[in-house]
Amino acid sequence: MLVAAGFGAFIVYSLFSALIWGPVFNVPYETQGYLSPFFSPLIGQGILPWWFSPAVLILWIPLGFRTTCYYYRKAYYRAYFADPPACAVGEPKLHTGYAMEARFPFILQNLHRVFLYLAFIPLFFLWLDAALSLHHDGHWRLGLGSAILFGNAFLLTGYSFSCHSLRHLVGGRLDCFSCTRRTRVRYSLWRRLTGLNGRHMQWAWLSLFSVGFADLYIRLLATGLFADPALRP
Ligand code: FES
Repeated sequence: MLVAAGFGAFIVYSLFSALIWGPVFNVPYETQGYLSPFFSPLIGQGILPWWFSPAVLILWIPLGFRTTCYYYRKAYYRAYFADPPACAVGEPKLHTGYAMEARFPFILQNLHRVFLYLAFIPLFFLWLDAALSLHHDGHWRLGLGSAILFGNAFLLTGYSFSCHSLRHLVGGRLDCFSCTRRTRVRYSLWRRLTGLNGRHMQWAWLSLFSVGFADLYIRLLATGLFADPALRP
């Protein structure tokens, strides 16, 4: 129930923020040099109609990456479909003719590796946004908004690098780790990714929270509800 509630809350909030908050309530996604992570990289600004959110052009990548993630699959299959409800717990009788990921639509889960490659594009821009936010209106500053953007980029990097698919890409399909110099390098990288991978669930939840929080901070800042505390040289 907690997992279902957590996902549900994030989905409702992200849909509201990405599609409705700007066009309907006129709350900008970019303010004082901070860009909401839901909209990064910003595509089509100035040429899209007012009702079309630019988030749509980029959000499908992180959304596809998360939806097909091995951890999230386990979590939402259990939380929403009771399939299975838990380890060693019998499935409901309505699950006859079990096919799950062998047929459409769940066979599309196999696209996870493709989404992994694509996910590095917005990730790069999130780091760039955080770095660019340090310089605003011709002055350097270290604002709370920048710290939040850096924290979010860090957690999303941890989430991406702890991916099961990436771990397999680096260290999988090898019969011998010690045979050549190249395979030894791959082994060493694989060991590091394995360390991150052991905490993939934690990275998944923390980064989910951070991306929503970063968006919320920037949107509330844009409404003028509070000022961004900043250190300036
Ligand atoms: S398995 Fe979760 S992001 Fe790849």
